[in-house]
Amino acid sequence: MPKLKLPAPPVPRKLNPAPKRPGQGNGKVKATDVAKEAGTTVIDWVDERTSLSGAARWMMFRKVPKGTNWFYTLGSATLFAFLNQAVTGVFLAMYYDPSATRAYESARFITNEAFLGEFVRGMHKWGSTVMVILVFLHMARTFFFGAYKYPRELNWVIGVVLLILTMTMSFTGYLLPFDQRSYWATIVGVNINGTGPLVGPYLNDFLRGGPEFGATTLSRFYAIHMLLVPGAIAAMIGAHLYLVAKLGTTAPPWQKVEQKAGVTEEHA
Ligand code: HEM
Repeated sequence: MPKLKLPAPPVPRKLNPAPKRPGQGNGKVKATDVAKEAGTTVIDWVDERTSLSGAARWMMFRKVPKGTNWFYTLGSATLFAFLNQAVTGVFLAMYYDPSATRAYESARFITNEAFLGEFVRGMHKWGSTVMVILVFLHMARTFFFGAYKYPRELNWVIGVVLLILTMTMSFTGYLLPFDQRSYWATIVGVNINGTGPLVGPYLNDFLRGGPEFGATTLSRFYAIHMLLVPGAIAAMIGAHLYLVAKLGTTAPPWQKVEQKAGVTEEHA
């Protein structure tokens, strides 16, 4: 016989008071209460029409394995570094000119004359190094914790693509100041790409934008650096985080050893 589910008894009115409205009680209306109420109303309004809160709750309120530690923050730190690059990059693009005759001068203008230009350019330059270091540390964490194994192989593969894209960002960005160092270093880099098996020479031609290194190379690197790769990174991070939320994170290896040996907190 199917089980009948009894309806929950009604909660007595006194145990279920309505939330206090701004100004209720002592008669004074606090500005912060009004702001909070307005914020809640806007969020409710959007949620009623989109049901986005369900997705946000699914993404953010997850169970995490016992033993989760600071090493698990490296992925989010990499994400933060990427966001820093995106924001500072937008401001740099407002002044930068990717033409062979104007690029060096526009970069000089950003550093020496634009308001907070040196700061923003420095944040972008040092941020790129920080992002590369963080992505490697994050990869090392996932490797040593065995997070590349079933069922997270696909997330590892997406991670490898993210690593290549991050390196492509560094490589293409290095040419943009168009000074002696960036010019010659990029020629060396493009030639190294050319030594790759099978695709090497084609990649070489594609990067140069023809048989010679020149003005086309610069605009090509700029388009790759500021449109193609950031878009691909954003999409890949979306897929990466979807899988993290869906599969959960791996428990630290020592936790797994404890579990296998049957050592729990009560028995330890
Ligand atoms: C732009 C670069 C990247 C960003 C923003 C990013 C972001 C994240 C975040 C936020 C997490 C969840 C928290 C954590 O475990 O740290 C994560 C997990 C993961 N990432 Fe990345 N990641 C990036 C690159 C990589 C790379 C290069 C690899 C490996 C080749 C990788 C492999 C993984 C794996 C396997 C997990 C699951 C970890 C687990 O289950 O414990 N990620 N990533």
